[in-house]
Amino acid sequence: MSSGKDHSEKNKNTSTIKTIGVLTSGGDSPGMNAAIRAVVRTALARNLKVTGIRRGYQGMIEGDFLPMKSSDVSGIIQQGGTILKTARCKEFQTTEGRAKAYQQLIKAGIDAVVVIGGEGSFTGALIFSEEYHYPLIGIPGTIDNDIFGTDYTIGYDTALNTVVEAIDKIKDTASSHGRIFFVEVMGREAGLLAINSGIACGAEVIMIPESDDDRQQLDRFMQKGYKNKETSGIVVVAEGDEVGGALKVAEKVREQYPEIEVRVSILGHMQRGGSPTAKDRVSATLMGVAAIQALLDNKQGVMVGLDDEQIVHVPFRNAVKYKHPVDQNLLEAQKLMNI
Ligand code: F6P
Repeated sequence: MSSGKDHSEKNKNTSTIKTIGVLTSGGDSPGMNAAIRAVVRTALARNLKVTGIRRGYQGMIEGDFLPMKSSDVSGIIQQGGTILKTARCKEFQTTEGRAKAYQQLIKAGIDAVVVIGGEGSFTGALIFSEEYHYPLIGIPGTIDNDIFGTDYTIGYDTALNTVVEAIDKIKDTASSHGRIFFVEVMGREAGLLAINSGIACGAEVIMIPESDDDRQQLDRFMQKGYKNKETSGIVVVAEGDEVGGALKVAEKVREQYPEIEVRVSILGHMQRGGSPTAKDRVSATLMGVAAIQALLDNKQGVMVGLDDEQIVHVPFRNAVKYKHPVDQNLLEAQKLMNI
């Protein structure tokens, strides 16, 4: 437990940073608001001024800034989405776009920025911080949980529970009608959401980009497991699986087994919405606090993350270069559950 002395020491702001900006970028994820709240309140507690940057890097380029006080983040911890709005900004990928953004930050007197987003956002942050030697700190926010260096990204837990709830419902229909459902779960390049939701729902097959034998698993299930029309099945397909999405996989199965009733359900953007779980709210709060502390400790060009429940600082370069691996135990467990 921290002592009163530690707390007052921490409250002293001896860094040259006086005003920080905060933005959300890329796909929204539940818990981003909790992270904004933590960043704003921690910064104010450390005698920093806070400027909200609306619509991610697009707002940075356009100077879409708003001063933020503690009451601006009241009552948002339980809200999905992001009060600062978000965008996928092509202009920030250009030298000219980043130059405009830098000018806007200097003009507004913003000394450092906290970027809440995913891999694409951190790639932009890496280039910008190297070009301008400008202090940027990242907080991982994406439902995909695909960022290297952190066990966990904000929004993942909520999305996982949303997917589980949806598949449980689909399972009722699958078993009542004796159908096979191909359920597509988000994750452009990563299968963590798919493998974990699939295991949690007792899916018969899970197809993810990180596994190379999921096509064989599907064949095995179709040939051996699915013998008569009384048997139903759930095949979870990650959006980014190399076979293509659920529609493609289902199409192939339909061609091969025309007698079997097959349906496709693409869960889509409902996975990104909703009130964040307690885990997402708490992790977002811890990471928001850590992001401000990192800036005050003169760290820059790093993402804060959680490794074994402990705060870590991961250089943007590593966060975007490497992949978040899928635990082999998960793949093994999935196979054992479907012998
Ligand atoms: O990165 C989060 C994510 O939801 C991916 O899983 C998905 O592929 C992508 O965003 C969809 O992005 P958009 O909402 O821009 O279509």
